[in-house]
Amino acid sequence: MKAVVQRRYGSAVLGELDVPVPGKGEVLLEVRSAGVDMGTWHLFAGRPYLVRAVGLRGPGTPVPGRDVAGVVTALGPGVTEFAVGDEVFGTCGSGAFAEYTVARVSRLARKPGNVSFAEAAAVPISGGTALQGLRGVQPGQRVLVLGAGGGVGSYGVQIAKALGAHVTGVCSTGKVGLVRSLGADEVVDYTVADYTGTYDVVLDCGGGRSLATLRRAATPKGRIVMVGAETGGKLTGGVERTLVALALNLFVSQKYVPLLATERADVFEELRVLIEAGRVKPPVEREFPLSEGVAAIEHVHSRRSLGKVVVTV
Ligand SMILES: NC(=O)c1ccc[n+]([C@@H]2O[C@H](COP(=O)([O-])OP(=O)(O)OC[C@H]3O[C@@H](n4cnc5c(N)ncnc54)[C@H](OP(=O)(O)O)[C@@H]3O)[C@@H](O)[C@H]2O)c1
Repeated sequence: MKAVVQRRYGSAVLGELDVPVPGKGEVLLEVRSAGVDMGTWHLFAGRPYLVRAVGLRGPGTPVPGRDVAGVVTALGPGVTEFAVGDEVFGTCGSGAFAEYTVARVSRLARKPGNVSFAEAAAVPISGGTALQGLRGVQPGQRVLVLGAGGGVGSYGVQIAKALGAHVTGVCSTGKVGLVRSLGADEVVDYTVADYTGTYDVVLDCGGGRSLATLRRAATPKGRIVMVGAETGGKLTGGVERTLVALALNLFVSQKYVPLLATERADVFEELRVLIEAGRVKPPVEREFPLSEGVAAIEHVHSRRSLGKVVVTV
């Protein structure tokens, strides 16, 4: 099969690999589209260096990409949840930038019937992270989404609206139109204005703002969900910021909540329901062909991407 093959961190070429074989509890998928997010770049580039712990001499998986949408073409031993021909989306283990991949059934759900494969591939990690980060949001609460024009943030705006919150999205100038189109009640272009007021929930998705800045944005009992900072630390990527936040929880009235989102079928199923109900729409800015998989990753890393980017096989 054709695949984007990565033998060392930071570079990859289109090559040929054997079609993977599904193991117990796995299915073989014919990949139609693969999603790209900042995590794809981190694993591709091996940055921060902390991620190299999963494959010290080179990338642990030679094919980039975890988000996938495709068609089940073979079942591994013991699989009863899906049948050959089913259209699914979720995350995969053997890399999605390829004609075929294997995925655990515990990380797959049926593809929403009202979106394309490209749109479905744009959902799992970013949508699932936003959904888990916004658990507990009540109708009428005020939610601030930082990085609202990115992958997680664009779902954050839509899911917070679906939960009945009043949503303020914060982004750079080029992303204001997108964030408005996602349904945010207020959009703040942080290059020309600051967000004012306080929020019950702050969803911090990129931008590396200081902990003090985040705290000022929250009500006295507010929750600050730390999704990812992109503070650029080469070694740890700013993990120490999270550790300081956890220590601060002992002394401040607000609560910093570091998020480690999980990839699970039930989360993807919840997203499928929201999408089919028209409450959430995958915001795909651009589709790249498989031969330009690396360019797709670099596009997300460049900060120019709007919402989501996918690779279509
Ligand atoms: N905790 C978890 O389980 C989990 C799961 C998924 C992702 N993440 C993390 O969450 C963050 C957002 O991921 P994503 O896929 O949504 O990324 P994304 O699509 O690149 O969006 C993040 C937004 O943050 C801003 N940004 C990007 N790079 C930046 C940089 N170097 N410095 C300052 N601001 C930057 C950009 O907004 P503006 O142009 O408007 O500034 C961008 O639109 C990442 O750090 C990712 O690693 C964490």
